[in-house]
Order: sequence, then C-alpha cells, then structure tokens
Amino acid sequence: MPSLIYSHIQLYRSAMNLLYAGGYRQRFQHVIDLLGAVPTASVCDLCFGDTVIADWCAAHDVRWTGVDINPHFCARARRRGYRVIEGDLLSVDLPASDAFVMAGSLYHFNDRLPALFDAVWQRSSRWILSEPVRNLSSSGGVVGRWARRSANPGDRHAAFRFNEESLLEMLRDQQRRHGFTCRVVSSDRDMLVVMERPGADGRAGGPALESHR
Ligand SMILES: C[S@@+](CC[C@H](N)C(=O)[O-])C[C@H]1O[C@@H](n2cnc3c(N)ncnc32)[C@H](O)[C@@H]1O
Repeated sequence: MPSLIYSHIQLYRSAMNLLYAGGYRQRFQHVIDLLGAVPTASVCDLCFGDTVIADWCAAHDVRWTGVDINPHFCARARRRGYRVIEGDLLSVDLPASDAFVMAGSLYHFNDRLPALFDAVWQRSSRWILSEPVRNLSSSGGVVGRWARRSANPGDRHAAFRFNEESLLEMLRDQQRRHGFTCRVVSSDRDMLVVMERPGADGRAGGPALESHR
C-alpha cells in the first residue's frame, strides 16, 4: 500500500512544502526553466507525482507524458486530461521524447540504476534530473525515520537517499557506460543536472561532468 503522503496529492504537497520550507513548487520551476531554454516538443516526466510540469507543457504546446506507479497520482492526472502511463517505469514502454525529466525520485531506483539509464537513453537525448542531496531522511531520530518511511509508492519503502558526493559518483559511473555529457546547474537541497547525448538533431551536449562551484 502506498504511504499516507502518496495517497493524496494535497497530503503530498503539504509534506513536501514542510520539507522544502514552502519552496516545493520552486524545484519544478528550475526544471521548467531548463526545459524552456531549448526548443522542446515532447517531454516524458518520470515519476511525475504532481502535474506542475504538465501544466507548463500544456500552456506551451509541449506534448507531455507522465509515468508513475502510484494509482492515485495517475488517476488525478488523467482526470485533468493528461496522458499517463501507470506502472513501474522500468516495465513500461517509455515514449520517445525530446526531453526526459525526473524530479525527486532517482533514489527509488538506487538498486536499478543501470536499467534506468539504459531505458532513458534508448528514448531521448536529453535528461533533466533534480534530485535531493540534503534531506531529513539522512538524519537520525524520529524525523529521519518518518522521512525514510514516508516514501513508499506501493511496492516498498525507499530508505536510500543520495548526497552530493554519491550522486556525482553514480553519474560518473553512468557517464562511463553511456558517454553522455553532464552539467551540474546548481546544488543546494536538490542537485539540478542536465545530461545530454548528441542526438539525431546533432545537438551537442554540455561540458564533461564537473562541480558547479
Ligand atoms: C518523491 S515523489 C516525486 C514526485 C514529483 N516528481 C516531485 O518532484 O514532487 C516520487 C514519485 O515516484 C513514483 N515512483 C516510485 N517508484 C516508481 C516506479 N518504480 N515506477 C514509477 N514511478 C515510481 C512515486 O509514485 C512518486 O510519485
């Protein structure tokens, strides 16, 4: 069964606003700013949860497809008229898209990262990733325990979290496998990363992975 905060979008938003001190929507805005920076006709939003990016896409004539395993979040997005693929994103047929985005969800795939990177690069040449690297889940005590146990999409608790160092190390590993370029745009509570592989359109990637500092 999904954890309580994954059972209703308002509960989820409230919890995230607590964790982000009111700045929950801002993390989507960072992704949206990057999406809007280059011509993009189609977006696949992995583990979308909320529909903030979908709303922006609809307003900008960008074809949006969301993928999520959570039936509550999927039903809500469908009711709003959005195209949704419900299921484990490593078991579904991902749509080829100009850009993939994933916000606050990579930690759910910690034990399946090679398969995730394989799946994305088969379908796109651009991937915008926003991932928490400083979070309550890494702290001890009751709060840390709550944060770790609150992230259950229905299949299992996701207790693992990245920090800045482990995320960079993982990205370097995947770069060696796939040869994509990777730019760290910012790193605060979340690390914001743009990965690109030169695509059929000849669009080049950014510089090799380096710290944003
Ligand atoms: C922390 S939420 C992030 C939601 C949203 N992207 C955001 O930034 O707020 C993680 C999302 O990943 C989804 N999820 C977790 N494991 C998944 C899987 N194996 N396949 C598809 N979605 C998954 C959950 O249902 C949830 O909506």
